[in-house]
Amino acid sequence: MGNNSSRFWDRHAEGYAKRAISDEATYQQKLKKTQAYMTPEMSVLEIGCGTGTTAIYHAPYVNHIHAMDVSAEMVKIAEEKTKAAQIDNITYDCSDFDSLNVDNEKYDMVMAHNLIHLLPDRDAALNKINALLKPGGMFVSSTACLHSGALNLLRLILPIGQVFGRLPLVRFFSSRQFEDSLTKAGFEVEFKWQPGKVKAFFVIARKVS
Ligand SMILES: C[S@@+](CC[C@H](N)C(=O)[O-])C[C@H]1O[C@@H](n2cnc3c(N)ncnc32)[C@H](O)[C@@H]1O
Repeated sequence: MGNNSSRFWDRHAEGYAKRAISDEATYQQKLKKTQAYMTPEMSVLEIGCGTGTTAIYHAPYVNHIHAMDVSAEMVKIAEEKTKAAQIDNITYDCSDFDSLNVDNEKYDMVMAHNLIHLLPDRDAALNKINALLKPGGMFVSSTACLHSGALNLLRLILPIGQVFGRLPLVRFFSSRQFEDSLTKAGFEVEFKWQPGKVKAFFVIARKVS
């Protein structure tokens, strides 16, 4: 996928790291809900880890986290934060999820937060995530589901910015469509939560086929 995307996130990495989480209470609840599914022997993949905040929170609850992101600047900040937090069970790598080449059935859990709507083909991504999970493994995702009348203006503006390379690609789909894609990819949703109409849709789904 596009170097456009990595350039965009490289440019925004420093600002992203400094920005406070917009709804801390909701974020903490999502962390807690995820940790209820974690065990100390788990191997976890985080796709689009950004500056590592979520991986750092979860690291003490699992054996290992492989955290990856297409932006070298995001990964650099994540590595610094992880070192400062004295955490040694996160391995970072800078790559596009599309070209991530690891064995199938390697992970007990895959996380992708604020990412799926940025990928060109969510069905292909969910199929790949399913293949990377061990049987019965968990997929945890917080995803902007931007399919709503109120966001029509955004739909018009975004492609203009994308043409000029200033904005990343963004896909529009509803939470219903996202759930349908999960089912199609072989997942069963065990927990879902949308804390507000324009808030990210949080899902914990199990690989069932
Ligand atoms: C909105 S940020 C979310 C960061 C973090 N997960 C969070 O919730 O704060 C999206 C992140 O996904 C990364 N990203 C976008 N497309 C990607 C891809 N194809 N493969 C890997 N990472 C990607 C970006 O570099 C960026 O760090």
